[in-house]
Amino acid sequence: MTTSITRHLLGAAAVTAIATTSLADEVTLASGITGSRIEDFKAIVKPWEASTGHTVTLVPMPASSTDQFGQYRLWLAAGNSDIDLYQTDVIWAPQLAEQLVDLSEVAGELMQSHFPSIVQSQTVGDKLVALPLYTDAPALYYRSDLLEKHGASVPETWEELTQTAQKIQDAERAAGNDDLWGFVWQGNAYEGLTCNALEWVKSFGGGQIVEPNGDISINNDKAIAALDFVATWPGTISPEGVLAYKEEEARGVWQTGNAVFMRNWPYAYGLGNSEDSAVKGKFAVTTLPTGGDHDTSAATLGGWNIAVSKYSENQDIAISLAMYLAGPEAQKIRSLTGSRLPTIMSLYEDADIAKEVPIIPQWKQVFLEAVPRPSAPTKGAYNEVSSKFWSAVHNTLSGDGTAAENLELLELELSDLKGSGW
Ligand code: GLC
Repeated sequence: MTTSITRHLLGAAAVTAIATTSLADEVTLASGITGSRIEDFKAIVKPWEASTGHTVTLVPMPASSTDQFGQYRLWLAAGNSDIDLYQTDVIWAPQLAEQLVDLSEVAGELMQSHFPSIVQSQTVGDKLVALPLYTDAPALYYRSDLLEKHGASVPETWEELTQTAQKIQDAERAAGNDDLWGFVWQGNAYEGLTCNALEWVKSFGGGQIVEPNGDISINNDKAIAALDFVATWPGTISPEGVLAYKEEEARGVWQTGNAVFMRNWPYAYGLGNSEDSAVKGKFAVTTLPTGGDHDTSAATLGGWNIAVSKYSENQDIAISLAMYLAGPEAQKIRSLTGSRLPTIMSLYEDADIAKEVPIIPQWKQVFLEAVPRPSAPTKGAYNEVSSKFWSAVHNTLSGDGTAAENLELLELELSDLKGSGW
C-alpha cells in the first residue's frame, strides 16, 4: 500500500531509490533442501538481494516431496501469511492453483523463452500458477571403472542390469569389498516411488497408471510382470533398506562408492563429481533401461517451480523475486552449481554449461520425451491416486501380497475415487 501511494506521489525514480534503502524488506521462501540446496540458494539470490536491497529467508522443508506437499496444504488452508513464496513440484499446479497468485500477465514475456510444455504444466485454466525453475528427468548412473574392471557393458534392459549388478556385487564382495551393492534407487512409500515405479511399468509396456484420457490402465499383465521382476531386487542386488530410501539415501550409498548402479535425478551428477566424492571421475550416465522385451525406456518427468502465495503481504516483492529466480541469470547459476536442467531453451546452447555440466545438453531430449505422472487427467485427486499407487507398489516389494493381487485392488480403489469422472 505505502509503495503504491509513494510511487504515485514521488515518481518511479524516487521509489527506486527508496526501495533500495528504507523500504528494504524481507521475504520468506519455503523449499526442500536436497543436496547442496542451501549453499546454492545463497549464491542464486545474492544478485537479486544486492540489486533490490531486500533479503530472502529460506524456510527449509522436509526432503520428501510428499511431506512438503502436506505441509504446504496445511499452511495454505490456514491462510498463512508468513510464507511469501513456495517452491512447488511439477505435479501440484492443479491442486494448489486457487491459493496461488496468477503470474500470467507479469511473466508472459519471460515465459516465451521457456519450453512451452513446461509452462503449460503450470497453467491451470488461464492462470499461470508457478514459474518454472528447473526440469527433471532421471538417469541411470553407473560406475564406469567397475564395469570396465569386470568386462561388463552398459545395460540396456532391466534384466541385463540385474545380471551385471549381481555379477559385480558378487565378485567385489568375494574380494573383500563387503559394503558394495548392485543397484540403489528410491523405494520409500512416497512420491519418489511413484516416479520409479512408473518407469518400470511404462518401460515394460504397461502404460502410465491413468492414461491422458483418464482411463485407469494399471491392472495389466505387463505392469504385473514389471513389479514382480523388481520385487526380486530388495535383499539381492539392492539392500533391504532400499524400501526406506529417498533420493538422498540412494545418493549417500552411491557417493561413498558403495553401489554399481543408481537411479537418480541430474542433481546427483554435480555432487558426484565434487571434491569430496568417492566416485568423482569414476562414473557416467545413460538412460534408464527397457524391460520385458519392450524396446522403449521411460523416464518420469519431474521439476520444480516458484509460486507466490495469495496470502503474502509482500506480493510485489515476492513476484519480483519469482521473476528473477525463473529468469536466465538464476537458471544459469542453478545449472552450474546444482546440475539442474534449465527450463529456458537457449541455456541448452550455453557454452559454460555444456563444458561444466555436460549432462545438461545431453539430457535435453530425455526430458522432452519424459513421461508425465497423471496429475493433469486426475486433477485435484492426483495426490490420492499417487499415494494409492505407491502403497500398492511398496506392499508388493515388501512381500505383502503379489503384484497381481495388489494391482487388482488398486484398480478398484482408483475406480471408486474416479466415480463418474476425475
Ligand atoms: C524430484 C522431481 C519431482 C519428484 C520428486 C520425487 O524432486 O523433480 O518432480 O516429485 O523427485 O521424489
